[in-house]
Amino acid sequence: MVHLGPKKPPSRKGSLADVPRDLLEQISQLEKLFTVDTQKLKAIVAHFVSELEKGLSKEGGSIPMIPTWVMDLPTGTEKGAFLALDMGGTNLRVCEITLLGNRDFDIVQSKYHMPPDMKTGTSEQLWDYIADCLSAFLKAHHPNEESHEFHLGFTFSYPCSQTKINNGILQRWTKGFDIDGVEGKDVQPMLEAALQRKKVPIKVTALINDTTGTMVASNYTDPETQMGVIFGTGCNAAYFDYVKNIPKLEGLVDLDPETPIAINCEWGAFDNEHNILPRTAYDIQIDNDSPRPNQQAFEKIIAGLYLGEIQRLVILDLVNQGFIFEGQGVENLKEAYSLDASFLSQIEEDPFENLTEVEDLFQSKFGIQTTEPERKLIRRLAELIGTRAARLSACGVAAIAQKIGLKKCHVGADGSVFNKYPHFPERGAQALKEIFDWEGTLEENPIKVQPAEDGSGVGAALIAALTLKRIQNGGSVGMTADGERRYLKGLNL
Ligand code: BGC
Repeated sequence: MVHLGPKKPPSRKGSLADVPRDLLEQISQLEKLFTVDTQKLKAIVAHFVSELEKGLSKEGGSIPMIPTWVMDLPTGTEKGAFLALDMGGTNLRVCEITLLGNRDFDIVQSKYHMPPDMKTGTSEQLWDYIADCLSAFLKAHHPNEESHEFHLGFTFSYPCSQTKINNGILQRWTKGFDIDGVEGKDVQPMLEAALQRKKVPIKVTALINDTTGTMVASNYTDPETQMGVIFGTGCNAAYFDYVKNIPKLEGLVDLDPETPIAINCEWGAFDNEHNILPRTAYDIQIDNDSPRPNQQAFEKIIAGLYLGEIQRLVILDLVNQGFIFEGQGVENLKEAYSLDASFLSQIEEDPFENLTEVEDLFQSKFGIQTTEPERKLIRRLAELIGTRAARLSACGVAAIAQKIGLKKCHVGADGSVFNKYPHFPERGAQALKEIFDWEGTLEENPIKVQPAEDGSGVGAALIAALTLKRIQNGGSVGMTADGERRYLKGLNL
């Protein structure tokens, strides 16, 4: 169960008493800049709901709202062994999951470090590397089984259009990836070609997003789960909608309108038009300097990849204006993305009133000596950035709940920011409470965002199992042949 911690997110404002007036003035300006009040949260939710609808419409909008062809939830009785591959930002994880048929599972897994330059390398390097990792895993765990064909649930967490359950045409890279020759292409044949070249007997049975995996895996162990969300390097959500509510599928499918289908929202793209999110000059700079400007507007404000960078830009600005670190070299601070979200977490977690851990952090990482008032400003800034992220994240959850009329449910949440950033879950819960005017304590919130099951492992395996079952029963796992042809033609590939 979720541990929401203290009833109200802590405020450390009181400890600013000894901060000199000019820094206090800076703090108060930052507070104005980064605080999102209840009214604004409600306005964002209202706009978010209409953007979710737009994404499902024939005209489409900036939120992709991708039908994933996941049309079943597990019954808990699924059995069998499946491979799962998760291509995250820093690591590649390969797992073998054995579903035990009683809402339980066994898992064997290996992690392979992804060389950082692979994020901007070539497509061949990427697929060959992945095939090598899968091959190494099979050699270690299934030696001499070349004739056996393994079923793989491939978690590829980037916006991909899907015409069926096991393909994915990459719309655009996110999370700092920039590999040529993949955008606009189906990634499944690319991976399978590399597997064939290297004689690895694996078939991609399902290609899934981490959010869909999270929702399905969490529902497997907690059937009250109706949404899966990721707050990590990137951010996104999945939920179930009905075919009848997805006008853009009209004429492309042969499915009963009442069929539920999981939607990978790709909500990181919310407000790409910059209509409503409270973007600061720092957010705008991050966007302009990113490999994909004007994309992922929501994600760039709330996801882990960007939180440290926001803090770095504010600090540099304060240095340039002469408010902090006077007379010190700040060369090391000038390197883009040199602060990550874990740095912010550590700042917020410093248990000492005089913030000696923050002092050590700045000294060891940047060779910068800080005064106590400077550290207090830096800590308040971290709180503001982390709180804004958590409150805006809640807008996405609230918008989905409002769109489908969910009054009470569990939301399975995963990702480094949700799991490790201090107070993120309770700050988000507080925002949900304000948005819906709920009474009572945070623990009594009817919609609870809580730690998820392993979506890209167990979730991917479950979806592979459900897919095989559906195919065996003659069910559909994608568009009709004619629908697919027309859809692909529309994409102008
Ligand atoms: C991707 C999504 C993914 C999310 C969380 C975003 O950048 O576009 O597909 O679900 O990150 O990993």
